[in-house]
Amino acid sequence: MGSIIAFANQKGGVAKTTTAHTLGDAFVEMGNSVLLVDLDPQACLTYAMGVDPDTLDLTLHDVFAGRVKTEEVVVESDESPALLPSSIDLAGAEVHLLTKTGREFVLARALKPLVDRYDYLLIDCGPSLGILTINGLTAADQVAIPFQCDTLSQRGVGQLLETVSDVRSFTNDDLAVLGGIATMFDGRTRLAHQVLESIEQQHGLRVLPPPIPKSVRVAEAPGKGRSVLNHARSSKPAAAYRDLAATIASEI
Ligand SMILES: Nc1ncnc2c1ncn2[C@@H]1O[C@H](COP(=O)(O)OP(=O)(O)O)[C@@H](O)[C@H]1O
Ligand SMILES: [Mg+2]
Repeated sequence: MGSIIAFANQKGGVAKTTTAHTLGDAFVEMGNSVLLVDLDPQACLTYAMGVDPDTLDLTLHDVFAGRVKTEEVVVESDESPALLPSSIDLAGAEVHLLTKTGREFVLARALKPLVDRYDYLLIDCGPSLGILTINGLTAADQVAIPFQCDTLSQRGVGQLLETVSDVRSFTNDDLAVLGGIATMFDGRTRLAHQVLESIEQQHGLRVLPPPIPKSVRVAEAPGKGRSVLNHARSSKPAAAYRDLAATIASEI
């Protein structure tokens, strides 16, 4: 059975999408089969994978609406992870879900037929703690929390950990916290080291090694429809993401 990992932080711009995408590529390099799940109506992961959501007949929205089986929506690929794509329609699903009984479990049910097909199922959550993210946390075995190392304000992390504890009480008592993922790390600044320390001290959140360096090579990759692993194969951030994938693989 595959491991389902949700990448969550209600703060936008902390590299959730980048991390899910790049770790997906890293796990594939290691010989695993991987499914990336785009749970954000902004569909940034779908775009970053080189897929234009406007050209897709079916997206995760159709699965949430109960119109199709999940398998029918998956975009398979030989060298990259498979993708369960999103589109802006998913924002509509969010409203629709609110009135539905069992609304927290829609994604968990949708992924069930796929868990044996992949070694890793990585869920890229959007920047909110709304019902879509709750679906992601309810479907997941583990949650990883990317956070930016260039700002000390990490108040959102405490709120997210509270949500994780609610999810454990109500919808998924097996949900484990895999750890924090330090992104956009600039080791030359004191601030970056302070952020790392404060995350561990304030929130008791273990940070998975290594931190991911800040680099323009990471930022320019999605424009080319790929992650930094294939865009700048031997760059420092590519090496860091490979090491992070190895850390995660050794722990689950
Ligand atoms: N290590 C990094 N160095 C430089 N830029 C990065 C790095 N990681 C992510 N970015 C950039 O930061 C922005 C936000 O990242 P993204 O993954 O979209 O965050 P989120 O999904 O949390 O909103 C994107 O433009 C991305 O390319
Ligand atoms: Mg994102």
